[in-house]
Amino acid sequence: MKTSQLFQTALEPDALHTFFHDVRQTSERLAEPLSDADATVQSMADASPAKWHLAHTTWFFEAMVLKPFVPAYKTFDEDFHFLFNSYYETLGARQPRPRRGMITRPTLSHILDYRKHVDHALDALLRASPGQRVAELVELGCHHEQQHQELLLTDILHLFAQNPLHPAYRDPRPVTVETADLSPLSFTAFDEAIVEIGHGPVGFAYDSEGPRHRVLVEPFRLANRLVTNAEWADFVNDGGYQKSLLWLSEGWAKVQAEGWSQPLYWEERDGQNWMMTLRGFQPVDPTAPVTHISYFEADAFATWSGKRLPTEFEWETAAQGIAIQGNFLDTHRFRPKPASPHVGGLQQMFGDVWEWTRSAFLPYPRFRTVEGAVGEYNGKFMSGQFVLRGGSCVTPPGHMRASYRNFFPGHARWQFSGLRLAEDA
Ligand SMILES: [Fe+2]
Repeated sequence: MKTSQLFQTALEPDALHTFFHDVRQTSERLAEPLSDADATVQSMADASPAKWHLAHTTWFFEAMVLKPFVPAYKTFDEDFHFLFNSYYETLGARQPRPRRGMITRPTLSHILDYRKHVDHALDALLRASPGQRVAELVELGCHHEQQHQELLLTDILHLFAQNPLHPAYRDPRPVTVETADLSPLSFTAFDEAIVEIGHGPVGFAYDSEGPRHRVLVEPFRLANRLVTNAEWADFVNDGGYQKSLLWLSEGWAKVQAEGWSQPLYWEERDGQNWMMTLRGFQPVDPTAPVTHISYFEADAFATWSGKRLPTEFEWETAAQGIAIQGNFLDTHRFRPKPASPHVGGLQQMFGDVWEWTRSAFLPYPRFRTVEGAVGEYNGKFMSGQFVLRGGSCVTPPGHMRASYRNFFPGHARWQFSGLRLAEDA
């Protein structure tokens, strides 16, 4: 099956050229507040240094586009192929993921030179009307880099959270606790239906978002907003982390082994909950959505509430037809925002925090892996992970779709992940 049937493209040549430059500039702007040391240290095996993100996204264009399609392209540095290949077995050996922080050389400034070199070559290629296959791969490379922009920020947050000085990635505006009232929790009912799920024929999508297919969705009800920090504090204060019956077995084992007693970045000081954010150490905002929780915590909370997590099909049913607007990266808030108490219907479907669903990340019916290295992009990760929907406060605008399927293992907590309750109707 050809790539064009799976990684769909949306853009005309000029628009693609503009998109490419915007994405490349955005990554560098996001790295501007970082020192070489900030950009080099790796805080855990799951996180990557910012320098590595900047180089790997560049390597992707070099390995997938320039080397195969531009015979005259001069490789910037042959060693970079080993250093910045992420997980592409078909492209050869690579630096082990947990040891990406050992790459103290090349320096950040040398990586920025690497980016310029590849940008220059891509620029020339795009000006020369490179054809459909190259256009598809460049567009994929841009969406890939947008994914890494979010990871760069969540990995920096994890890194800065390990620093006893709690440095702020950006200055501490807006300061913290909102005065808005808590939006009351209500539920929207959806009738039983056979629903079309997955991305349609128009616009870019990852392979895992298709093929579009029919799903029988039983009647259900979906919460109008995300679960808040105040509600999470009630769960904590009610002993939610001590009641084994609320937890999936694997989750309870994590609670015991890791000593989980609150969301990842929460810390109690003088009787008040504080948390690490990209704007430094801040009081927890009770009306804002809870974030940095694992699937297992989300599931336990839902059980404690007498509800459940939605399936990804229920979530997509509810999201279809809703404008893709919300608190994304371009608000520069860098934190999830409280729901409005004055708005009816479903809120916060897009942006703020990724919403855990109870659906395993599995191939849709008739899914086939793309041929070649790009086939390793999503398909080989379809085991042992759960789907999250809707994007977060650090997802680049324009990167989100109702059909978008993010995925992480059930124990992952360092992403901007939260939850929305659902129930059977
Ligand atoms: Fe990647």
